[in-house]
Amino acid sequence: MHARNFSVVAALVLSAGIGSASADTAPRIDVVASPTVAVHPPGAAIASAHFLATQAGEEVLAQGGNAFDAAVAVAATLGVVEPESSGIGGGGFFLLHDGKTGKDVFVDARETAPQSVDAHKYLGADGKLDHDKALDGPLAAGIPGEPAGLAWVAKHYGKLSLKQDLAPAIRIARDGFPVYPRMVDELTERHDVMQRWPATRAIFQPQGKPLAVGDIFKQPELADTLQTLADKGADGFYHGAVAQQIVAAINVAGGDWRLDDLAGYQVRIRDPLRLKYHGWDIVTAPPPSSGGVALAEMLNILSAWDLPKLAAATRVHLIVEAMRRAYRDRTFFLGDPDFVKDMPLARLTSQAYADGLRKGIALDKATPSSSLPGAPPPKVGNHTTHLSIIDAQGNYVAATLTVNTAYGSGLVAAGTGVLLNNEMDDFALQAGVPNAYGVTGYDANAPKPGKRPLSSMSPTFMIGPDRVAVLGTPGGSRIITMVLLGILGFDEGLTPQQVVSLPRFHHQYLPDEISIEPGALSADVVKQLEAMGHKVTTRSSTWGNMQAVEWNRSENTLSAGSDPRNPVGKAQVVLAGGKQ
Ligand code: DON
Repeated sequence: MHARNFSVVAALVLSAGIGSASADTAPRIDVVASPTVAVHPPGAAIASAHFLATQAGEEVLAQGGNAFDAAVAVAATLGVVEPESSGIGGGGFFLLHDGKTGKDVFVDARETAPQSVDAHKYLGADGKLDHDKALDGPLAAGIPGEPAGLAWVAKHYGKLSLKQDLAPAIRIARDGFPVYPRMVDELTERHDVMQRWPATRAIFQPQGKPLAVGDIFKQPELADTLQTLADKGADGFYHGAVAQQIVAAINVAGGDWRLDDLAGYQVRIRDPLRLKYHGWDIVTAPPPSSGGVALAEMLNILSAWDLPKLAAATRVHLIVEAMRRAYRDRTFFLGDPDFVKDMPLARLTSQAYADGLRKGIALDKATPSSSLPGAPPPKVGNHTTHLSIIDAQGNYVAATLTVNTAYGSGLVAAGTGVLLNNEMDDFALQAGVPNAYGVTGYDANAPKPGKRPLSSMSPTFMIGPDRVAVLGTPGGSRIITMVLLGILGFDEGLTPQQVVSLPRFHHQYLPDEISIEPGALSADVVKQLEAMGHKVTTRSSTWGNMQAVEWNRSENTLSAGSDPRNPVGKAQVVLAGGKQ
């Protein structure tokens, strides 16, 4: 096992702002792994982006549910209390580890393109991609996958019924919950779009007034739809009255969905992508996520260096150069594996390929990404959500769920309370034209009927000889670099709370710049990076909303961390004898 050090801890704790102390100054403490490790965790740990969702997970655990039941309860509740981030009108990925069999599965509940999809429909009269069509309203929405994902996880892995797992979400949708600032900020940002459809206005502007912080937000129609899902399973959403209302709403608004689009939706059960880094087995997202391939490339490149020993600027430079190269490959090669049969996955994730890429990295000089034209700066946001869970049976779940950008397409299907996603923007709707996150793509990610758009969502497990970590985050194209920094943080011995608090920097090939959170790097480090030829751009705000839990098997302790950038998140450890 790679010796851990705590060299960066002092620099990383974030409470009110981002820590900015130098990473090089704190003392190093090496910890030697214990040869004996616990077989079962001493309880459960849950971290999610909203306290009511974490509590929903605790509730089903107390009823005898396992981590999978808790994941369904937490995910469904997040969809109710964070409509800006995820919901049954969207999709996501669930990464599951079964403590009994040791098996890992990746439940791909990503949205699919409807049969009618046609890239030309997204172009304006000038032949250019019309971002309004890609992001707002009926053409922006993909066929939702989350309802099928929830039903599949409960049926195949839960101990309780789907009805029991969905009960907290239904109750909160019916009784309401207090509106918090992020909901209002993002409603304000999406105001024009949320105005367009009467069913959306009726929910998000009750009595014609915008929601305000502290209002009790109730969603009775969504509660009914969730109840139908609970009673009938996935059929309750994909067939019958709910399906008819969704198809009607899309078509009235100018889209073209058929009942078959919903009736034909299936989750895909995939083998997770596996890689090794410094003695950790990393289990993460395969295509149609780009996350696992990019993480493999970056970690394989970085594995040759002892990163904590390097000067701070050199460490950032090398990580950035790894990011740049992985995002370049994302652009050209990756898409839905059910459609793109010639993805060179074995090559991209091989050590030999990374060794070759590493040879092109100078220790003190940036490599320009200048082979393609520049792109506008990507949007930054946290309009997606993540949950991480470990239970007392040694089951783990990491799930990242989304409606894509804030409040998805803005279109609520009348009568259902279901806010539809805008995941179609994750396709390369026009080759080489940046999407909302500034990432581009070509043929591999071109839209096709039934195809899943390429994602960055990267729910991840890190399995070490004596520690297990479960992590993930929203953040569009930045998800992968955040998970990378999280993996490096766990590898360096940080706790979950320290990992989720890490200051963040990001590079995605194009635009050719390192973007950093305010204060994430010292002025001196920025100066050194600039001297190497990097452009460093400080964003006006932070990004991400990481949730992580850890089981230390040599100490048999559990710990959990919820991103301090999001004040309503909650990390909770529940020990067998009561709360910690
Ligand atoms: O699947 C993806 O990669 C995106 N739709 C995720 C969107 C996201 O994380 C939004 N947060 N900024």
